[in-house]
Amino acid sequence: MKKLLFGVIALGMLAACNTTEETANLTEDTNARTATASRKSCPSEEIRAELLKNDAKARARFAAIEAGTEKFIQAKKLGRVLADGTVEIPVVVNLLYRTTAENLSDARIAEQIAVLNKDFGATNSDVNKIPAEFASVAAGDTKVRFRLVKTVRKSTTVRSWKTNDAMKKASTKGIDATDPTQYFNIWVVGDMGSILGYATFPESAGQWNDGVVLASKYTGVTGATAPYNLGRTATHEVGHYLNLRHIWGDATCGNDFVADTPTQTSSNGGSPTYPLYNTCGGVQRSVMFMNYMDYVYDSAMYMFSAGQRDRMQAVVAAGGARAGLRNL
Ligand code: ARG
Ligand code: ZN
Ligand code: CA
Repeated sequence: MKKLLFGVIALGMLAACNTTEETANLTEDTNARTATASRKSCPSEEIRAELLKNDAKARARFAAIEAGTEKFIQAKKLGRVLADGTVEIPVVVNLLYRTTAENLSDARIAEQIAVLNKDFGATNSDVNKIPAEFASVAAGDTKVRFRLVKTVRKSTTVRSWKTNDAMKKASTKGIDATDPTQYFNIWVVGDMGSILGYATFPESAGQWNDGVVLASKYTGVTGATAPYNLGRTATHEVGHYLNLRHIWGDATCGNDFVADTPTQTSSNGGSPTYPLYNTCGGVQRSVMFMNYMDYVYDSAMYMFSAGQRDRMQAVVAAGGARAGLRNL
């Protein structure tokens, strides 16, 4: 590694200095002053060498920059960061099944990943339903994508799961996460009563319980249970995993920390008719109930906002809370 870095530096020096020399040769001048200039026209690396020799902190910064650059290039090679800056999150699905119906097929899991990729890319078939009023604040492509790396299956006698993370540990009849610092773990379980799914927020990044849990009947599309049968429980939970709060801010006229989602009084359910007006703090607003972070039916939700997109991108950016998902 050290040798390689040194080689890169040496190469950089050669390239820069050669260019200057060639330019000097073109304007062929026997003048000694020019000859001196061509030999000493590129002192950046000499100055750097001096700095690095005398300053341990600068040496550490230099090493960190090179290590970060190497990581980025590796991530690009692995396809985790695409050429246009899209982050492709590697996904591990951990499937706990009791009945054969709960043992979702590979096709059904692929279908769920495909829904995520459409919803996060704004290529979902119902994107055209976004009201004109909200078109200017729609997220468009969030530049987050998902790639299934593997599916881990385990048969169980557990009929119903609680939201106590038992499914995330082998010692409590679950499945241990695959390195949550590098992989996004999804647990699909047979049943959680009235709970469709739940997620951990980015402060849990890399912890043993980090990830999303989905009830199998609300996972994927084909054979899923209406009216939550378009794979959008995953879209909603991944929103939380990437630091989105509920659009109503989990309080009456609460705050979701997103400027372009209108403050609304509370959650919406079912399939509301647009426009739907709420009054908060004496101000009446048309609310964005069709947002993935509300509680409406799958067929009634079809957008993230630009502000939500920015929050999610911050999480997977280099240096973000979930930067591990983009690294080797
Ligand atoms: N955590 C929410 C729940 O369990 C998920 C809501 C998802 N909404 C949906 N339309 N799929 O209720
Ligand atoms: Zn939620
Ligand atoms: Ca808001």
